[in-house]
Order: sequence, then structure tokens, then C-alpha cells
Amino acid sequence: MTHKIAFLPGDGVGPEVARAARSVMMRAGEIYSIPLKFEEHDFGGVAIDRHGDPLPPETLTACLEADAVFLGAVGGPKWEKGPLRPESGLLALRKHLGVYANLRPIRVLPGMENHSPLTPDRARGCDILIIRELTGGLYFGEKREGMERASDNCVYTREEVVRVARIAFEAARGRRGKVTSVDKANVMATSRLWRAAVIALHETEYRDVELEHVLVDAMAMKLIQRPAAFDVVLTENLFGDILSDEASVIAGSIGLAPSASLGEGARGLYEPIHGSAPDIAEEDKANPAGAILSGAMLLRFSLQRDDAAQAIERAVEETINNGHGTADIGGRDSCSEFAARVAGALRA
Ligand code: IPM
Ligand code: MG
Repeated sequence: MTHKIAFLPGDGVGPEVARAARSVMMRAGEIYSIPLKFEEHDFGGVAIDRHGDPLPPETLTACLEADAVFLGAVGGPKWEKGPLRPESGLLALRKHLGVYANLRPIRVLPGMENHSPLTPDRARGCDILIIRELTGGLYFGEKREGMERASDNCVYTREEVVRVARIAFEAARGRRGKVTSVDKANVMATSRLWRAAVIALHETEYRDVELEHVLVDAMAMKLIQRPAAFDVVLTENLFGDILSDEASVIAGSIGLAPSASLGEGARGLYEPIHGSAPDIAEEDKANPAGAILSGAMLLRFSLQRDDAAQAIERAVEETINNGHGTADIGGRDSCSEFAARVAGALRA
């Protein structure tokens, strides 16, 4: 059976990193006999320009009918002042796909400690899986725009907390067995609900997993002081957005960080966590590693091909360990050169 992948290159460096990732996924598909069919659709700023809508109905339908959705990046200065923003399409897509759990692994690869802005002894051994709640909280609460007064409403239900916490506990069981739940329970009502729901689930079903609670401000500090102390980090939408950018640079560059967004069922949304980086768009300079590793996550979670996923991860590591990479990690490769090296390093 051919796997249908909705392919949304998006804006800025999105198209170049997405193409790079597609070439690596196709090579993995050949080696592992996984039939893949990529269908390209307009999304984000380009879709505003062409259809007056960042998420045109035909793109949404294609995503809902696909086995997986692969996304480059969206946004850019061109659309910052307009009535429609590319980002609103991304939020709508996440909501329509029901992908409430956003997995953002951050790993300092052995030998890469020197690329970290932290001292090598602090960066060494950092291997964190951030699980960010993705379809609730401030991002989706009622908004009131205004130049004198404005508001964003943060809402969580117990059920929304429990389903994402379950993913975190399950992930921890397959890793080092620890979950750090991050909230602001000393101030926010939603955080008190969050903490209570996480504790209740832990007590009833996951006593074997170690659970700790850290306030988000302290977490911002601890991530820098002792990143290697964390295993799975579970948090709500906005805190996860902020902490994942912070954590990503520990590994040397945000360009290295992939993500998978999952809900019920196998369909998922895969995208590097970096933005559209309009300043370097179309220069073939962007680091495609985060996008390529997102492709590995697609093979793992939506197509159940852990073998091919691991092969891509090994090929990326090997390529970087051999001293290759784009400028952001101190290398000399262009985006397409790096992707070609990774594709060439792939083996069954
Ligand atoms: C991310 C991005 C998005 C978010 C933006 C582009 C809406 O920053 O995926 O982390 O805030 O979720
Ligand atoms: Mg972000």
C-alpha cells in the first residue's frame, strides 16, 4: 500500500528544508521498500497570496485524507501587517488534525558538545523529550484584540491534560523513566488543574515512573544549569513553545530540532521546530537536519517504520560526526549538499 503524505513546503526556508527532507525520506523508502507518495499543497503565506487563506479547504481536505502531513515552515514579514497571518493556518491545521501532543526531542549528540553555547560538561549527555500540549491553552482561548485593552483566555480541561500526560508517561517508560511536569501552579488556575490531573494519573496508572513538578520560571533556569538531569518534560502549549526554543539551542542550533505532533490514530504532523528564517530564504543555507529528522519521526510514528527512522537518524549523526554540516553548526555545506550527504550515508 502506498503511503500518502501531504507535503506543505510553506514559506521562507520551508520549501528548501522540506525538499531536503523529502529527498532523504524517498531514499529511505527505496532502501526499505516503503512506497511513498508526496502530494504538494499550498499552505501559510503562499496560500494567503494564492487563495486568500493560509489553510485553503483543498489543503485541509488533503491533510485529513493523508497518512501523514509534512510541513516546512510558515510566516514572514510580508504577512505581518495583513488581516490574515500564516500562523493562524498552522494553528487551525493542528486543531483540525487533533494533534494534541507535540514531541520535540533535544539531544546533544556525542562529539557535538562544542557546538553548544553551554560549557561542554553541562551540555554532555543532554537527551530531553519535550512533550508540549498543542491544541489548548492560550493559543486557542477566546481573544479580544485592542489597542487600549486586549485579552487572551487560557483554558484547559482535565481531559486535555490527562491525554497528553499519558503520552508523556508512556514515553518515559521507553526512556529513562522520569517525567518533569512544568507549570505555573503558584499563579495560574489552569496550572493547578494541570498539576492535580498529572498527579492523579500518575498515582493511578504510572507509579513506576518518577514524577517531579517544576515551575516554568525555574525550569528556564534549570534547563541551562543541568540539561542532562531531564528526561521527558511535559508542559502546556505556551510554556512548551518557549522552553523548546530554549532547549533546542543547547544542542547547538535550532536547525537540528525535529518535531512530531500526534493525536488519536497514526496520522501526524511533522515539522522542524525552527521558523521560516526569511533572512536566509532561497539561499540554500538553512540547516535541513531538523526537517530530515522530522521525516524520520514520520516514518516511525505514522508509518510504523522504526527501522527506516533509525537509519535516517544514524545517517544524520554519522554525517555530522564526520565534520559536515551547514554554517549554523560550523560546517560548510549548503542545505542541499548536507541532504545529499545524509541520503548517501543511508544504509539498510
Ligand atoms: C512553533 C512555532 C509556532 C507556535 C508558531 C509559528 C505559530 O513557534 O511551532 O513552535 O507558536 O506554535
Ligand atoms: Mg515556537
